[in-house]
Amino acid sequence: MKKLRIGIAGLGRLGKVHATNIATKIPNAELVAACSIVADELEWAKKELSIENVYDDYNEMINSPDIDAVAIVTSSGEHCWQIEAALDAEKHVFTEKPLGIDVEQCMIAEAAVARNPELTFMLGFMRRYDKSYAYAKEKIESGLIGKPYMVKATGIDPEALVDGAISFAATSGGIFLDMASHDLDLMRWFLGSEATEVYALGCTFQHPEFKELGDDETAAAIYRFENGAIGMLHVGRTAPYGYHIETEIVGTKGTLRISPVPEKNLTRIYGQDGVLTECVGSFPERFEEAYLLEMEEFVNCALQGKQPNVGVNDGTRATVLAYATTEAWKTGKAVKI
Ligand SMILES: NC(=O)c1ccc[n+]([C@@H]2O[C@H](COP(=O)([O-])OP(=O)(O)OC[C@H]3O[C@@H](n4cnc5c(N)ncnc54)[C@H](O)[C@@H]3O)[C@@H](O)[C@H]2O)c1
Repeated sequence: MKKLRIGIAGLGRLGKVHATNIATKIPNAELVAACSIVADELEWAKKELSIENVYDDYNEMINSPDIDAVAIVTSSGEHCWQIEAALDAEKHVFTEKPLGIDVEQCMIAEAAVARNPELTFMLGFMRRYDKSYAYAKEKIESGLIGKPYMVKATGIDPEALVDGAISFAATSGGIFLDMASHDLDLMRWFLGSEATEVYALGCTFQHPEFKELGDDETAAAIYRFENGAIGMLHVGRTAPYGYHIETEIVGTKGTLRISPVPEKNLTRIYGQDGVLTECVGSFPERFEEAYLLEMEEFVNCALQGKQPNVGVNDGTRATVLAYATTEAWKTGKAVKI
């Protein structure tokens, strides 16, 4: 069997998940190299995944003739130059979202993808590969709910992880840039249209630290789409019960709701206070399977010379939308996109 030889860049929270999937769960892929600027993480890759070729210099790794592809899971500000360097070194590229932290950076990635059309490029909007989201998309395409005219997207991180969000708030670019990119991508995907206008608000009731850092702990936005459809977004960081990701798509003939109860699994606990459904606790838990399925798609596309259905422009569009939403939130005015 032909195998895609992958080098991974970034071995933090999510990098370890992708590295483990590539090394142990995808038969037609091989993790042959790893790169990180943190020495302990390189030791982890050697010890846990038996990776011999480890690098603290990204350019050195991508110029190795032993790799066919790169998985970029580094800090967001590094993605675009690393995408450009890898494509120009003739490697297929999978990159985590966001594509770039501003639109100028996204243009660098767009140009590199355009001048290397024979190489596979994929952006990690893994929710499109989650089985429930993919199923909902199939149902919409089959006409089950008629014409979709509204998407309501909810993404609330657990209160249990709020300290991490506070420590990241000063450099995150604000709640929309930090949290909304998957939901913005899903709105475009489900509605099959582009947003033209946004109005947004934020509030903070529990952790004044967010306000002190120029951020908010909760925010909402409403979008008008080119085809007349409406998008509604609710993002936050203080769900007391766990990690709440829910999406509703309303159409002329019906409605689809994905994960209205963000349940951990099918177990119900019958106790003195009633019947309890525990909630999923974090993104690696909720989207464990989607991270594997998206990487399988990348590997298959690269081996077969194809492009996946989530490309570089989807990344740019999500970044443009997140910036417009941030401007609307900061100015209190509707913003044309
Ligand atoms: N798709 C999702 O749901 C999802 C979830 C979490 C994070 N992410 C994205 O994944 C990326 C990584 O997030 P994380 O939480 O794992 O971050 P992290 O801070 O835990 O890890 C960052 C990693 O990048 C490495 N790194 C940074 N600069 C580097 C460079 N110049 N060369 C080589 N390595 C470098 C660090 O050594 C570290 O291994 C971010 O862009 C984040 O937005 C996506």
